Amino acid sequence: MSRLAIVAAMHDELRAVLQAMPDEVPRVRAGREFWVGHLDGHEVVAVLAGIGKVAAATTATLLITEFQVDRILFTGVAGGLGEHVRVGDVVVADGLTQHDMDASPLFPRFEVPLTGVSRFVPDAALSDVLWRAAQTVLAEAAGAQGEHLDGARLRAFGITAPRGHRGLIISGDRFVSTQNESEALRQALPEALAVEMEGAALAQVCHDFNVPCAVVRTVSDRADDAAHVDFNRFMAEVAAHYSLAIVRRALRLLAA
Ligand code: ADE
Repeated sequence: MSRLAIVAAMHDELRAVLQAMPDEVPRVRAGREFWVGHLDGHEVVAVLAGIGKVAAATTATLLITEFQVDRILFTGVAGGLGEHVRVGDVVVADGLTQHDMDASPLFPRFEVPLTGVSRFVPDAALSDVLWRAAQTVLAEAAGAQGEHLDGARLRAFGITAPRGHRGLIISGDRFVSTQNESEALRQALPEALAVEMEGAALAQVCHDFNVPCAVVRTVSDRADDAAHVDFNRFMAEVAAHYSLAIVRRALRLLAA
């Protein structure tokens, strides 16, 4: 039977996933709790990624080598970089780059040395499933009452018409919280839709082990001077619900 990992970036997201799992059992490795059980009939392992690229890489490695997962879904939040990417929107990755990787002039900027890769490509089929799941959840969110996410909760944050985007997500060991920094990232990587701290590291590990992965992020801020404002409340009240709703939709599609 296939075993799928659900990797959450934040506690609120993991808590929401665990509440929906009837039989989860914790197993501790490298100081992390890996919750082994079921979600909507699928065998799953749910875990926090940890924060930053190394933490996420360790988590992904353990999921693959110790827990034998054969697919990884990664949910979390990100700062919006693309001009039209707003708070409350959802971004599904079709490429992931480590924006702080720079071994130039020995290797091209952004390329992970000795791999020849500067843009890790997540699994197309799994990303399609996340994309379709996100579209459904966003359509529900725009309505009065979704199955898992109600519009009133979003409107409290001024989110009225959340949209989905698909494209490049960039990762680095920095919470981007100034206009100057986000502008510099936009200049360096004009295609980037969103910035976070783990996705491209997890994608590198999955690339090495040839394990399919897909990444979805809810936009919590615009990676500017106001990026930290309301971050925690947004996580608890909006992003955690998005993540669970999108993951459950995706599982339904995977079963179909
Ligand atoms: N995750 C959410 N917002 C972020 C930001 N502004 N920078 C890096 N990671 C983030």
